[in-house]
Amino acid sequence: MKRTKIIDVLQDTQYGKTVDVCGWVRTHRSSKAVDFIALNDGSTIKNVQVVVDTAKVDEELLKQITTGACLHVTGTLVESPAQGQASEIQCQAIEIYGTCGADYPMQKKGQSFEYMRQHAHMRLRTNTFGAVMRIRHNMAMAIHTYFHQHGFFYFHTPLITASDCEGAGNMFQVTTKNLYDLKKDEEGKIIYDDDFFGQQTSLTVSGQLEGELGATALGAIYTFGPTFRAENSNTPRHLAEFWMIEPEIAFLDQEELMDLEEDFIKYCVRWALDNCCDDLEFLNKMIDKTLIQRLESVVDTQFVRLPYTEGINILQEAIKQGKKFEFPCNWGDDLASEHERYLVEEHFKKPVIMTDYPRAFKSFYMKQNQDTDDGGSVGYKGAVAPGPTMQGTDVLFPQIGEIIGGSVREESYDKLMGEIKRRDMDMTHLWWYIDTRRFGTCPHAGFGLGFERLILFVTGMQNIRDVIPFPRTPKNAEF
Ligand code: 4AD
Ligand code: MG
Repeated sequence: MKRTKIIDVLQDTQYGKTVDVCGWVRTHRSSKAVDFIALNDGSTIKNVQVVVDTAKVDEELLKQITTGACLHVTGTLVESPAQGQASEIQCQAIEIYGTCGADYPMQKKGQSFEYMRQHAHMRLRTNTFGAVMRIRHNMAMAIHTYFHQHGFFYFHTPLITASDCEGAGNMFQVTTKNLYDLKKDEEGKIIYDDDFFGQQTSLTVSGQLEGELGATALGAIYTFGPTFRAENSNTPRHLAEFWMIEPEIAFLDQEELMDLEEDFIKYCVRWALDNCCDDLEFLNKMIDKTLIQRLESVVDTQFVRLPYTEGINILQEAIKQGKKFEFPCNWGDDLASEHERYLVEEHFKKPVIMTDYPRAFKSFYMKQNQDTDDGGSVGYKGAVAPGPTMQGTDVLFPQIGEIIGGSVREESYDKLMGEIKRRDMDMTHLWWYIDTRRFGTCPHAGFGLGFERLILFVTGMQNIRDVIPFPRTPKNAEF
């Protein structure tokens, strides 16, 4: 079949020629002797209008053309007298591929997102989800293009792993054994000897550690793959299965890392503005009237670079001025999303790259700042902190909070081992990681971007469950 995509039909001005289009009926309305069918095939948010001379088409067939039905239309491309569309199709023949009953879950317009999540197998056919999915694809293309053009190699890290990169312990186990008859030793510890991998394995929470092996050989790599976290956080920002992009670069310092984070994310947002106009205009109209303006402002603005200690000072000052937060924010506390959002949305009114976090709540692999004699440390641009800090550099975004988590890595064998000891970590399964610091160690840095958080920002959607086709969250693995 020489079917033409609707996106191409709508741009074609060779009126008079015959075209074949296929798609799903959005609306079907009658007006005297003609019927109008709005057909969409997912190639664009726009529908093509099919004009049917009812005298020429079987009445019974026309009755079956209801919202959601799938059609193949052959017709003449003509200039449209209607506003908002250049061309339409004068119908010659209609073939119905699939009728669609009145119980079609996407029948009615304006259903809640909660309702649509329960019908995620069909919600992809709506305007909103079509737009989000096309933008999602475009962001993936932007990411690959950016890294390819900047000399990064796409590096594939394992999804099944025996190590816990983030050390948070929220991993999904992988086993072929019946969990109820796993063998245990005398102390009650599970023996994995006869399990598939002969050791305890899980789904990865991050490809970073293997990414570091790639970067310290190839110079600059990035990963882009699924990531799994069994954290029981039922929030609009967390998924149990999400996609992460993790670039890792040799010979990169803290300032350059922040440059890369900023340049990369601006490139992605610019790509959306340049390549997803129709879908963004739709979302701007239907979901969030300030969306496009917000995207443009991120591309045009310089991000703030802020040591954690200064951030705490700003928050403390705000509290003095009467600002109320639910959670405490004293030096040493991990920032809650309300604190991040205050800094980004109210105080600076632009994205913030926060750096030099307290050692206590950041990961073991981060580069340690120079300690001072009185227990403090010296970090970015000589700023002094009251306690030990690490060169973690997170990007905080309006509406989203943390969109990127990154850091310079500790390249010193002694310092890294000191930290591992301090945390009493079991390094049995990470011997290979330590080897990078023994054999030709080098300064290096990297970050992880949560793909769905980027999509949230770019689409203006409110819930992370609505920017991935089939979300995985606690108590939900349907579809
Ligand atoms: O800050 P995180 O935990 O950092 C890492 O995993 C590092 N190993 C990355 C690196 O340096 N290579 O996660 C990175 C990002 C977060 O900033 C957030 O955008 C996203 O991943 N993220 C999640 N997105 C959706 N659902 C979750 N449960 C997420 N957890 C983290
Ligand atoms: Mg983080």
